Amino acid sequence: MEEAVKTERKKVILSGIQPTGVFTLGNYIGAIRNWDKMQDEYNCAYFVADLHSLTVRQDPAALRKQTLDAFALVLACGIDPEKSLVFIQSHVPSHAELNWILSCYAQFGELSRMTQFKDKSAKHADNVNAGLFTYPVLMAGDILLYQPDFVPVGADQKQHLEFTRDIVTRFNNLYGNVFRMPEAYIPKEGARVMSLQDPTKKMSKSDENVNAFVSILDEPNVIINKFKRAVTDSEKEICYREGKDGINNLMSIYSVVTGLTYEQIEKDFEGKGYGDFKLAVGEAVVEKLRPIRENFNRISKDKAYLEETYRKGAEMATGISERTLSKVKKKVGLLAK
Ligand code: TRP
Repeated sequence: MEEAVKTERKKVILSGIQPTGVFTLGNYIGAIRNWDKMQDEYNCAYFVADLHSLTVRQDPAALRKQTLDAFALVLACGIDPEKSLVFIQSHVPSHAELNWILSCYAQFGELSRMTQFKDKSAKHADNVNAGLFTYPVLMAGDILLYQPDFVPVGADQKQHLEFTRDIVTRFNNLYGNVFRMPEAYIPKEGARVMSLQDPTKKMSKSDENVNAFVSILDEPNVIINKFKRAVTDSEKEICYREGKDGINNLMSIYSVVTGLTYEQIEKDFEGKGYGDFKLAVGEAVVEKLRPIRENFNRISKDKAYLEETYRKGAEMATGISERTLSKVKKKVGLLAK
């Protein structure tokens, strides 16, 4: 039995994080709070997708800083580089190489149908570059290089994962079993966190109203103020009920961060006002996010540690990804050196 357990291959989860934009409380509740435990159950790989960010014009110095900050944030959220693979995409040449090869197996028609391409090209009509168009191919390569079982993707990236799966089928039909078929990873439990300003909409970091979302690095007073301003309703009862979207959202957040059930919360706040409740939710969120903010402040200042960690990560990721890449090169007919 012991033997069997030892030799069983741990399933692999891989995720890419854009360096532009911060994690929200929604990301925390939906995924990040389980990252720590996930590392024991799976082989996890996280990388900062800096190459993907180039599809939109960036300020070079700002992009460098955001890349390093995103890397530090992954570590601050509990990813342990001794257990998981953490790296920066552009440090591993295999990504750009596989991107070219796979682009010759992706069709113009299917890439034209990607909703993100359609949205982004409408939004940046003055810069509809080829990278924006082939973005899903780069992403397919990111994934397939590491042969993962699961890829956690939000709704906006689902179509790109479907595209990746189509590439796998196409490629494997031509050349045999080269790529493992990745599945979307759906977290077991996970409350959907809604906007604090419009609780019928999902909380989003790209909301133009900054009061609509909580960033996991927001200062305590900022978090408290955002909760104080949260949109609720004109009643005064704190209970989970159809139609009370704002209160339902706050109850769901409070329940996740405190571990209290809805019944307990309703009892604790009986006879109290929305103001008291909003403050309690804000304070509970502040406490929950405190370790991440403190870790981030410490780690992001430690440039030597960050450098050492991303260099090691790049070396490991290069080793793993090159195994897949050399197989691919051989299959498609490139001459080995
Ligand atoms: N496109 C993803 C996003 O915008 C980031 C990403 C790049 C990614 N490569 C990936 C996510 C590979 C998962 C797997 O969020």
